[in-house]
Amino acid sequence: MRFGSSRRSAPSTSHPSRSDAIDSHHGARRTTMTQGSTTLHAYGEASYWDRRYGQDPGPFEWYQKYRSLAPLFDLYLRRHHRLLLVGCGNSALGEDMLNDGYEDIVNIDISSVVIEAMQTKYQDKPALQYIKMDVRDMSDFESGSFDAVIDKGTLDSLMCGHDAQENATKMLEEVGRVLKDKGVYFLITYGDPNYRLYLLKELRYWTINMHVIDRLEKTADKRCWDLTTPIPWTEDGSLATAVLGSNPEIHYIYVCIKDESLSQHGNEEPNSSEH
Ligand SMILES: C[S@@+](CC[C@H](N)C(=O)[O-])C[C@H]1O[C@@H](n2cnc3c(N)ncnc32)[C@H](O)[C@@H]1O
Repeated sequence: MRFGSSRRSAPSTSHPSRSDAIDSHHGARRTTMTQGSTTLHAYGEASYWDRRYGQDPGPFEWYQKYRSLAPLFDLYLRRHHRLLLVGCGNSALGEDMLNDGYEDIVNIDISSVVIEAMQTKYQDKPALQYIKMDVRDMSDFESGSFDAVIDKGTLDSLMCGHDAQENATKMLEEVGRVLKDKGVYFLITYGDPNYRLYLLKELRYWTINMHVIDRLEKTADKRCWDLTTPIPWTEDGSLATAVLGSNPEIHYIYVCIKDESLSQHGNEEPNSSEH
């Protein structure tokens, strides 16, 4: 069971299997966060994250570290771009990007506990801003004010919460709004095309490139997948599945490039990377 029995249905509220769990990458160790005494719904709640960050100030890195992702960011980003890291948690991604030359990085999170901690930690780094904000309502940001939005595990968290589909749509609409035309939304997720493409495709204002990365960090000679080469996909996910095989040990990175001309023209043709 994944998120509901049909691709388009709302997530099931029954007990999730391991495939529903969001996993994290902490140092060399990969842990899978099953719910234990916590229901998966908690991942959508600010109170869960406040409690978690209060107990464990971190840093804690979900899924992937900057050094693994950097070659992909290099493909799509420039160092002067204004970046928004949504659901930043206490990840080192912002700091690592700053150290690698990115100049303007805004981080938001729904947890006041983690935002206050990060504001204190980085008070001497004005290029790294931390703001408490709900990704579903970013009205404090002007439309078209960011070159890129980076999401590592945040849509996944909302997808584990109550009213998952509605919250995910709100989030994606806000992400699309704050992006400039030709701006890029990076969705770094465990969610395979069957469970993420339909959500992304509901908003018809971006073209999507799908990249994948080995879940566990590997040396270049041991890597199964080349991060910078996009995987071909079709609307129903079948082509990507044929290329990747079943249950590949990967994270997916959907690179969604905003194209205002698509929403203006209605974009009635399904978009895929295979024509
Ligand atoms: C799985 S963690 C990922 C943290 C970080 N991005 C990383 O890669 O390590 C999800 C994060 O999303 C945040 N979050 C959950 N719902 C949110 C919302 N509605 N708005 C903003 N942040 C949210 C949580 O507080 C948490 O820090």
